[in-house]
Amino acid sequence: MEKRKSSSRMRGRRKAQRNAVLAVVAFIVAAAGIIGVVAVAGGGKSRSVSENPDVKESQLQTESEQQNNENGQNENSSTGDENSAENGDGSSESETSESATEADGGANQDGEVTGVSARGYEIRLIDGVSYVNGILIANKTYSLPSDYNPGKIDDTVMDAFYEMQSAAAAEGLNLYISSGFRSYNTQYWLYNSYVERDGKEEADTYSARAGYSEHQTGLCFDLNTIDDSFANTPESAWLEQHAQEYGFIIRYPKGKENITGYKYEPWHLRYLGKELAEKVYNSGLCLEEYLGITSVYSD
Ligand code: DAL
Ligand code: ZN
Repeated sequence: MEKRKSSSRMRGRRKAQRNAVLAVVAFIVAAAGIIGVVAVAGGGKSRSVSENPDVKESQLQTESEQQNNENGQNENSSTGDENSAENGDGSSESETSESATEADGGANQDGEVTGVSARGYEIRLIDGVSYVNGILIANKTYSLPSDYNPGKIDDTVMDAFYEMQSAAAAEGLNLYISSGFRSYNTQYWLYNSYVERDGKEEADTYSARAGYSEHQTGLCFDLNTIDDSFANTPESAWLEQHAQEYGFIIRYPKGKENITGYKYEPWHLRYLGKELAEKVYNSGLCLEEYLGITSVYSD
């Protein structure tokens, strides 16, 4: 009788232990599911790596994003022909000032004026970050401090992305963020990986040095497949036509390589707010031309 009681107690204990283990497993699976959803919502969808030999960035970026996840992160030589900007519109300061407030990353009248652009726009340095007529700029001329770290894509930018994504989806197109915010350290690792693979001169044509990447601002992202094949997709054609309606510009356009300092990147979009994005788009100029600034490393 005692024996039966004790073996039934043992069975009870084993059952309790088994239930505890199952509860832990269920918790881990549920947590993994939540993390997965967050990763997709945050643009963590994985992408295929192109076979295209011209592709430079996609493979290593995939690795970089894996590193981002481990770190818990959500994560320009130009001839600078500024005279060409005179052919476009947007030359008066008041034209960009309103939009600047939409994409200024918190710029105000603080900081110091460090100069005036070739198109007459005030260049201001606030906490080490450069603003041209209130527009936050990160390119080969204007760098960011290593500790400038918004940590994620700006909320306003994400809202604009979702609006654009829905509009594209209504036409049967699929847009997703494949690379968003990248910290100084992530960019350091990424750029140096490219230098090791392709050499510095080549890497500088498609990847920013640490502290010079727009990805560190949280105001841009790469969409879909980050390789040259993306240019031939209906999604890319749609973005070329409509991105500005949602406040974005194709930041490194075709034919402007010597001005932006980078190869054509149909997947890299920068948020400027609807008004300014429309103006830049209609001008046919890249952002450097529109603002009258250069994108050239000093060394
Ligand atoms: N691929 C762009 C230029 C960057 O690295 O920021
Ligand atoms: Zn990019």
